[in-house]
Amino acid sequence: MSELILGKTVSESIYSELRVRIEALKSKGTTPGLAVVLVGTDPASEVYVRMKGKKCEELGMHSVTVVMPENTSEADLLKKVSELNKDSSIHGFLVQLPLPSHIDEKKVINAIDPKKDVDCFHPVNVGKMLIGEPDFLPATPAGVQQMLVRSGVDTKGKHVVVVGRSNIVGKPMMAMMVQKGDGADSTVTVVHSRTKDLPSITRQADILIVAIGKANFITADMVKKGVVVIDVGTNRIEDPSSPKGTKLVGDVEFEGVKNKASKITPVPGGVGPMTICMLMANTVAAAEKANVSR
Ligand SMILES: NC(=O)c1ccc[n+]([C@@H]2O[C@H](COP(=O)([O-])OP(=O)(O)OC[C@H]3O[C@@H](n4cnc5c(N)ncnc54)[C@H](OP(=O)(O)O)[C@@H]3O)[C@@H](O)[C@H]2O)c1
Repeated sequence: MSELILGKTVSESIYSELRVRIEALKSKGTTPGLAVVLVGTDPASEVYVRMKGKKCEELGMHSVTVVMPENTSEADLLKKVSELNKDSSIHGFLVQLPLPSHIDEKKVINAIDPKKDVDCFHPVNVGKMLIGEPDFLPATPAGVQQMLVRSGVDTKGKHVVVVGRSNIVGKPMMAMMVQKGDGADSTVTVVHSRTKDLPSITRQADILIVAIGKANFITADMVKKGVVVIDVGTNRIEDPSSPKGTKLVGDVEFEGVKNKASKITPVPGGVGPMTICMLMANTVAAAEKANVSR
């Protein structure tokens, strides 16, 4: 029977360390501040934005939510970004994606001051991560790495197979695991929708990190015994037995794969809580840097 790696347990240990750092900052007169800009009324984005605000409050951080209408012009959004870049009470901010189609997401991301880019989407921060000199790490892959480290998974010299090559999860995950140092030093293979004979590669993984958005894609025959499995996927599928008629599942067929894995993350309850946790960690780190350079 495999051991579960739970996001709640890992994130709580990080939050308790963050609380100490936040108190230290406050005692020097700095309250870490996070702003989230939401354009439009995408229901999933609204939920995430509310969760971020709530977590800031719980931690005693300063939190600002900027809600802009769906028909906001690109120029007005860029103006808001520029204001937040200058606002000394805000140490980190993000513009919730996706944006309405009339706004160029790249232009908006490029306008964020890299020092406040707590999502780590700005090309400067992506480049710094790649060369192993990060100011921030992107929240979801950083959360995955923390789950590995804090549950005692040795990554050194291990074969990490990342399934998916998105800019948000797969590619930064690859870049992080291949770096020198603790929680990394891995041999990394990335597979995607054009990969030939994908199962022959996933079966070689010591650590399998899956982020493709395809329900129950990885099955027991695609992994080797003893593998550590991190399932980033979140997919809502029909479930007539649940009151809502749907349920959340990962990209990994949990019931089958858990019998072969040494450690595995469930969905829900796995990677989910880690993204907001690492966003908070990035905001605290940004406030600490701003405090030093004051
Ligand atoms: N905090 C969290 O829990 C969290 C955070 C972020 C994302 N997620 C979830 O993680 C999943 C992935 O998110 P994402 O943003 O990385 O997705 P994405 O941008 O849609 O990228 C999906 C990746 O999976 C690959 N892929 C799709 N179908 C495949 C197949 N049949 N075989 C092999 N590769 C395949 C795609 O390959 P190509 O590049 O070749 O098209 C692409 O690289 C989603 O379920 C998302 O909801 C969860």
